[in-house]
Amino acid sequence: MVRVCFVCLGNICRSPTAEAVFAKFAQDAALEDQFHIDSAGTANYHVGELADARSRAAAVRHGYEIRHRARQFLRTDFDAFDLVCAMDADNFQTLRQLAPSHEAKDKVKLLRSFDPTAKRGAEVPDPYYGGERGFDEVIEICERACRGLLEQLRPAAAAG
Ligand code: 4NP
Repeated sequence: MVRVCFVCLGNICRSPTAEAVFAKFAQDAALEDQFHIDSAGTANYHVGELADARSRAAAVRHGYEIRHRARQFLRTDFDAFDLVCAMDADNFQTLRQLAPSHEAKDKVKLLRSFDPTAKRGAEVPDPYYGGERGFDEVIEICERACRGLLEQLRPAAAAG
């Protein structure tokens, strides 16, 4: 079992999108039982809410479903996950500061570092204050990165 948590700021746009995309990829690869997949936010503004309606609509347009309810990432989550994928540099830094140990810090990666075509330090842009197109772009970025992530984790997942 490989345990992965996707993390953004509000946990209503980017990270629940990445969670839904990765879950679908794992399912399509018949590896869903080998992964524990979740998402969370570094902020608590939207705890308990469904994902933003624009993210949910974009997900449906691309063949995914987002059912997650927002929660805040807790320090104790570092014990519950093997890998913590941050959507951008700010959340990466927040998570590294929250990490209780060097081992925990090493679990934090930028999601786009798994996209072999992305530049070093590339982020998933925050679509919250922008237009509809930004939400489609988040899906496309998450697809490229999650494809790379699944390929990287596949041997560990397949090994049980
Ligand atoms: P997310 O997007 O971090 O991708 O969920 C945001 C959601 C809400 C806010 C900012 C970003 N906000 O400021 O409320």
